[in-house]
Amino acid sequence: MLEDTFDKVSSVDKSALLDQIAAEIVKNNVCPDLASSATQLVFGDGNSNADIVFVGEAPGKNEDLQGKPFVGAAGKFLDEMLDSVRLHREDVYITNIVKYRPPNNRDPLPEEKAEFLPYLHRQLEIIEPKVVITLGRHSLEAFIPNRRISEIHGQPKRVRGQVILPLYHPAAALYNSGLKETLLKDFSQIPSLLIQLN
Ligand code: URA
Repeated sequence: MLEDTFDKVSSVDKSALLDQIAAEIVKNNVCPDLASSATQLVFGDGNSNADIVFVGEAPGKNEDLQGKPFVGAAGKFLDEMLDSVRLHREDVYITNIVKYRPPNNRDPLPEEKAEFLPYLHRQLEIIEPKVVITLGRHSLEAFIPNRRISEIHGQPKRVRGQVILPLYHPAAALYNSGLKETLLKDFSQIPSLLIQLN
């Protein structure tokens, strides 16, 4: 009972701390060019007490309009994959490396990724997930530089104390059935990985 109450309070605290970081990004004028072309900041969404944090690349058009990550076609597939391991969005936290939509969905620039990285690190310090799941090469590179996703996808790695599970980006699998199967297979190990990390 006592533990339940404590969990709830700490979850509220965590989401308040996350809100503060989002406000700092705006106040510190991070990536002003991106900020001015985007509709809004897409900071992150989900359970601030989650064991799993997914980190994508950057918001696309739908995410920019709704202010939430992974709400378009790639997000639908992410939901399907979560469902395949009996997880829901409320169980996990989802964010991106770059938190404003790059114009015309271009790749985020190295300096944009670098500017946002300290804020991502702080998000993770607050949430303290058991595993960070990187989606795509931009996200992989932020945690494990100089490794190819084709070589290490689905292989959990420990980096400075944090377990990272590199996965392909769901958008890459939308029109590639082989990659879709690979992604679903990599996803299927999430429950056993979590049990191992408990
Ligand atoms: N792709 C991403 O990398 N992030 C999103 O939020 C949506 C699509």
